[in-house]
Amino acid sequence: YKRVTVKSLVEMKSNGEKISMLTAYDYTMAKIVDGAGVDVILVGDSASNVMAGHETTLPITLDQMIYHASSVIRAIDRALIVVDIPFGSYQSDPKEALRSAIRIMKESGGHAVKMEGGKEIKESIKRTLNAGIPVMGHLGLTPQSIYKFGTYTVRAKEEEEARKLKEDALMLEKIGCFAIVLEKVPAKLAKEVAESLTIPIIGIGAGNGVDGQVLVTHDMLGMTHEFNPRFLRRYLDLYTEMTNAFKQYVTDVKSVDFPNDSEQY
Ligand code: KIV
Ligand code: NA
Repeated sequence: YKRVTVKSLVEMKSNGEKISMLTAYDYTMAKIVDGAGVDVILVGDSASNVMAGHETTLPITLDQMIYHASSVIRAIDRALIVVDIPFGSYQSDPKEALRSAIRIMKESGGHAVKMEGGKEIKESIKRTLNAGIPVMGHLGLTPQSIYKFGTYTVRAKEEEEARKLKEDALMLEKIGCFAIVLEKVPAKLAKEVAESLTIPIIGIGAGNGVDGQVLVTHDMLGMTHEFNPRFLRRYLDLYTEMTNAFKQYVTDVKSVDFPNDSEQY
């Protein structure tokens, strides 16, 4: 795919090609992620944790999400850019949801939005879709509801919550979402959902029976240290690499090793 679209993702699923997705919140990171051939870049509200140091995703604002998304958009040649609508910018009513989605599309140039939840936000999603804005769903562990859940443990282990999740996923497909993120649910349930839908299911902590995977880039690079869920595979230990580089820099500056003769004018 020369340029990934919401249609290409559905095609990938029907061709059995898995979808790769990672987060980015800034130009420099997005440029590297896009250049490496990652299909979808999520401007996640995890920026609230990763970029701003908040404990949850709740505090990040729509203006801040638009700032991150516009930085990412300027970097990319190929990936589809999905932007999270932050907490408090779509739950009140469908008009608010549409207004927020329109602001993201107009002011950042993003290609699609993501909202957390099932039937509770059905009308908001429909209204947004009716305006021609592609919507990605997000079910299972939905971090904007963390104070309702109380913990970040696996969701939908019990029959009743699993049934609701399946109903919600079917509903999201029926009203026209182009894909759904399933976060931290049993692999067996995730596989069942993926097999029963034609739109792609992108998993995070949802096993390998789904149609694609997403991780937070800073986590998979090993830049973050304290966050150690079972589903996280670290491809680098950048925390250590960067710490060593910074320490070396301090040593070199203190000892006047840096700059040397060839590093000055
Ligand atoms: O904000 C985020 O990074 C996300 C992914 C973890 C799916 O929503
Ligand atoms: Na998110």
